[in-house]
Amino acid sequence: MEILGIDIGGSGIKGAVVDTEKGELSAERYRIPTPQPAKPKDVAKVVAKIACHFDWQGAIGCTFPAVIKQGVAYSAANVDNSWIGTNAEALFAKATACSVHVLNDADAAGVAEMSLGAGRGQKGVVFMLTLGTGIGTAMFVDGRLVPNTELGHLELNGREVEPWASDKARKDKGLAWKKWAGRLNSYFDYLEFLFSPDLFIIGGGVSKKGDKFLPYLKTQAPVVAAQMLNEAGIIGAAIAAATVVGHKAPAKTLREK
Ligand code: BGC
Repeated sequence: MEILGIDIGGSGIKGAVVDTEKGELSAERYRIPTPQPAKPKDVAKVVAKIACHFDWQGAIGCTFPAVIKQGVAYSAANVDNSWIGTNAEALFAKATACSVHVLNDADAAGVAEMSLGAGRGQKGVVFMLTLGTGIGTAMFVDGRLVPNTELGHLELNGREVEPWASDKARKDKGLAWKKWAGRLNSYFDYLEFLFSPDLFIIGGGVSKKGDKFLPYLKTQAPVVAAQMLNEAGIIGAAIAAATVVGHKAPAKTLREK
């Protein structure tokens, strides 16, 4: 099945047509910088531009960096507060005249890795962690996603983990790789205490530099770098949409009006 996957991030909004069986991009990726501030209406315009670029009329799978339930955003850690309570799915469906499925960005990346990447066939408890501006988490139990875990916002030693151990924190504070890995060790140790995972998959842009920090990690469970890197969000969103959008009624379209 071909689905248009769209990945909404803090600096760019990227889209590509995905062959969901192969987990491959069927056409070259198209990127537009994220509007600033990234208010719902402005982001929806960019999503529509991406759909137009591909002359797309089929289903769309879309990531968003927040808690997403039935298409509605319930948090706004690194995005504009006006997203809280916004039905992103309805907004994008209206803007694109397509059926849209929206899910959390880390959940989407996890779906891609579990289907076709580092987590393929993995049983037990698997964590996908995306280390970037924020810390995104996706938890899988025997291959099934437990959505919206948001474990980057856990409190550890009296402080929130995300602003202390994200890749942004590493860059902002100029932390050496070893020092940053030490922070990740404290965080992963806590996740192991809580959930006894069987595998950690590390994604986000920094996973390309895995050789710099993965050797310092001392978890009980194995830690591996994500395999799909930049495209995991786009591919995962499309795969997730393929399982649900086909069953939804077509969106009432702007094009029809
Ligand atoms: C958000 C998550 C998101 C993560 C990565 C966090 O700040 O709360 O929803 O998955 O950043 O983008």
